[in-house]
Amino acid sequence: MAIYFSMAILFYATKTSSTSQLHPVILIPGSGGNQLEARLTSNYKPSSLLCNRWYPVFKDPDGWFRLWFDPSVLFGPYTKCFNQRMKIYYDPDKDDYHNAPGVETRVPYFGSTQSLLYLDPHLKGITSYMEPLVKSLEKIGYVNEKNLFGAPYDFRYGLAAKDHPSKVGSKFLSDLKKLIESTSNSNKGKPVILLSHSLGGLFALQLLNRNPISWRQKYIKHFIALSAPWGGTVEAMSTFASGNSFGVPLVNPLFVREEQRSCSSNLWLMPSPKVFKGNKPLVITPNGSYSSSDIARFLQDIGFVEGVYPYKERVLPLVERFDEPRVNVTCIVGSGVKTPEMLIYGKSGFDERPEVVYGDGDGTVNMLSLLALESFWNGSESQFLKVIKIHGVSHTTILKDNIALDRINKEISSINSGISRSVIQLY
Ligand SMILES: *[C@@H]1O[C@H](CO)[C@@H](O)[C@H](O)[C@H]1NC(C)=O
Ligand SMILES: *[C@@H]1O[C@H](CO)[C@@H](O)[C@H](O)[C@H]1NC(C)=O
Ligand SMILES: *[C@@H]1O[C@H](CO)[C@@H](O)[C@H](O)[C@H]1NC(C)=O
Repeated sequence: MAIYFSMAILFYATKTSSTSQLHPVILIPGSGGNQLEARLTSNYKPSSLLCNRWYPVFKDPDGWFRLWFDPSVLFGPYTKCFNQRMKIYYDPDKDDYHNAPGVETRVPYFGSTQSLLYLDPHLKGITSYMEPLVKSLEKIGYVNEKNLFGAPYDFRYGLAAKDHPSKVGSKFLSDLKKLIESTSNSNKGKPVILLSHSLGGLFALQLLNRNPISWRQKYIKHFIALSAPWGGTVEAMSTFASGNSFGVPLVNPLFVREEQRSCSSNLWLMPSPKVFKGNKPLVITPNGSYSSSDIARFLQDIGFVEGVYPYKERVLPLVERFDEPRVNVTCIVGSGVKTPEMLIYGKSGFDERPEVVYGDGDGTVNMLSLLALESFWNGSESQFLKVIKIHGVSHTTILKDNIALDRINKEISSINSGISRSVIQLY
């Protein structure tokens, strides 16, 4: 009895005193993992009557409304409005992407976890995203906007290779850099732990590699990447060819295809030839097949000619290099979930759903891609890399599943040093 009692006190004391000693954590969500707001200007030309400027009815006094996520996207005529407003455009003269004419967008609550918790705060149940992860981090002493921050971004825009502009993506990297510095400064100069999900990991690795090593050493304690698609996914090819309704039964994937093709972040997720090696066919059609080295030809053949130049010049050089950031990295990935590995199209072409051959992965990202850093940095003296595989956890349940959340907390606690280890033992 006495022993339990004193252990409880010790646990309590450790927990309360450790809050200020924790390394602050910054969450970087995946694609579609935060809210996005829009406002229509007088340049906006609605694609249909329904899509007029009065829709949606509820806007704030300055005309802003939530573009992502809004459940009306699930209903036919509104899916078209959504596409029109969400689509982005490549401008060959500027060599950069921009919003649809008359559509302004902004990312609410940068710095806070608020817009990462639920994609629609009115539909918390079905649109919960990082809420379980944040709850779980709170249990080990993390507090929003004290030592826990969120870095939402406009996930439609990717980054581009060196010497190519990417205004929106680069602005996000510079905002994230400032957030890292201010977070560290407001936490007694402690370097931060970056905790990303999916596409967020690709942005984080670029941020690290685009800043001097002295900056990284000063500000970054550790980078934990959950479910990062380092080398892209075969599923991305299916999205570009035939659209992807992400399992929402009411949405016709062909209705969202044009918008999905337009997003430069999606192009970034095409299978990398560095990772999907050896000319293995990923897509097979009656006319021939496509490996990861044939993505430009694939884009041409599916009828997305506009994507060929940006892919070759802006994306390909980006997915051919995996430089060591020389800060400690942990990849936590799901495995053992059937994941599209090869797509077989029939005579009716790319508008039909392909027959899918499955392989190992997290349901979305192929194992090869999840483990790509391991294959590049294996045996390196200068790069610490730890890979944690959790069997049966999918691309998104990694943010909700109790075993996964415990594993993530355990990793963060051990990064935070011995104090947190003793907390775990007392449990
Ligand atoms: C990185 O990991 C190595 C090996 O565990 C450890 O010795 C080192 O202190 C870590 N660096 C930081 C900044 O945590
Ligand atoms: C195959 O080639 C024919 C003739 O060029 C074309 O009409 C058809 O759409 C192609 N099918 C696929 C799946 O590429
Ligand atoms: C890493 O290298 C070791 C020794 O060279 C090898 O046994 C192991 O299979 C490699 N692991 C991966 C994931 O490449």
